[in-house]
Amino acid sequence: MTLDDFPCLLPQAAVGGHPVRVVHALRPAQLPQLAALTDGRAAAFATDMGFGAKYGEVLLLPGDQGVESALLGLGDGRDDGGCDPFVFGALLPRLPAGAWRVQAPADVGAGDIVLGFCLGAYRMPAFGRAQSSDSDGPRLVVTEQAVAAAEVAACICQGRDLINTPPNLMGPMDLADAARLTLSALGADVKVITGEELLRDYPTVAHVGMGSDRPPCVVVAQWRGSRADVNAPLLSLAGKGVCFDTGGYDIKPASSMLRMKKDMGGAALMLSLARLVMLRDLPLRLELRLGCVENSVSGHAMRPSDVIVTRSGQTVEVGNTDAEGRLVLCDLLSAACDSGPDLLIDAATLTGAARVALGPDLPALFCNDDAVAVHLLAAGDMCADPMWRLPLWNGYREWLRSPVADMNNISSRPMAGAVTAALFLQNFVKTGVRWAHIDTYGWNDSARPGRPEGGESLCLRATYGGILKIFDFDGIKDD
Ligand code: BES
Ligand code: MN
Ligand code: ZN
Repeated sequence: MTLDDFPCLLPQAAVGGHPVRVVHALRPAQLPQLAALTDGRAAAFATDMGFGAKYGEVLLLPGDQGVESALLGLGDGRDDGGCDPFVFGALLPRLPAGAWRVQAPADVGAGDIVLGFCLGAYRMPAFGRAQSSDSDGPRLVVTEQAVAAAEVAACICQGRDLINTPPNLMGPMDLADAARLTLSALGADVKVITGEELLRDYPTVAHVGMGSDRPPCVVVAQWRGSRADVNAPLLSLAGKGVCFDTGGYDIKPASSMLRMKKDMGGAALMLSLARLVMLRDLPLRLELRLGCVENSVSGHAMRPSDVIVTRSGQTVEVGNTDAEGRLVLCDLLSAACDSGPDLLIDAATLTGAARVALGPDLPALFCNDDAVAVHLLAAGDMCADPMWRLPLWNGYREWLRSPVADMNNISSRPMAGAVTAALFLQNFVKTGVRWAHIDTYGWNDSARPGRPEGGESLCLRATYGGILKIFDFDGIKDD
């Protein structure tokens, strides 16, 4: 990608003689120095207007020609003194059109400013409505180095787009097509498995999908970095791509069904992560599997009490057709383990229970390897993209017992639902394979700076940063 792909950014070289206005970004503690940062008039105006440098607070400062400059509050920031990138997302909706640059405290990374600004520039896909052009608004003046942060924003925004697209326009094959397009453009070898081949290789995915007139498929992508040889570490990614989850026969109440276009959020996240790994040309071998399927109610839908012979040979009783995500993932995990990955990561909007435990902003991390977990959590904390670890508590394994199959897809107890879902998945991960499972919400419930309401690629930056640490790629540029 190049800077030309980002209409909200203006390359320094293209500014020419045009005026560039300044946004002064500051914390409350810097308010006494406002007059030195700007000038006496501006400082007096800001005081009169009650500007407190609160998180995301924007104040436009008037001059002879209209708006002369602007102030952005960074709030008191995080305990580590760092600042989260999202705050710069408050700018685009407020600044007048024209060229702008941001003057921020020295500890704020230039990449964070670009990332946040771009995330705040996100707009829903148009879905047929007329929309004005992005380059008509304010633009951030940047150097060529900004492209790295802008690429991260592009990956996050692609995830948002895929999740936000209404389910009539984003069926299993639409999701697979989007993945195929993105991945093959970056040099991956992509297959979309359907029909007889799907029944043979991913029988559980086929079983979940048989209730819908839009047939299920599995995207399998393989890629090797230009600096990776055949012995390079293998990273394997898997994502739940349930394009709409009605719950099947154990149907969801209307209020819970309403959001279920986002049930492909795990697939969207893993696609974005694969894209970022490929954009950065990490010295890895990469495999990606997306289970693309719709969980519908119909005369040919799966029933509660069905027994499925999964790809691994283990049998599963369908205790509840609404616990379909773990069914989709189980075959993907078995297939992934066949290649002997050095690290296997899956992501899914798997349980409501994870949301009850941690709320919308903290994806739950389950991991069978402490060192991997520590790296992922630390990476998330570093970049304001946190996850929280929950246990693969063996004591609850027996809650998945079934009298007719090797296991049930639901727990016998109405407790620790995110844990029992993760334990179910672990049955399909070969011993010795380092595995991280992310149970995410994939959605912003409310609009905040840089985080519009709607689909969200939670923990993309955390997982990417974690991968750099886990494989010791610290020398590789990661911003
Ligand atoms: N996609 C849902 C989980 C979900 C619900 C994610 C709400 C985010 C927000 C999943 O397929 C599901 O329905 N899970 C059930 C499992 C239950 C039947 C064991 C759940 O969590 O209620
Ligand atoms: Mn469900
Ligand atoms: Zn689901």
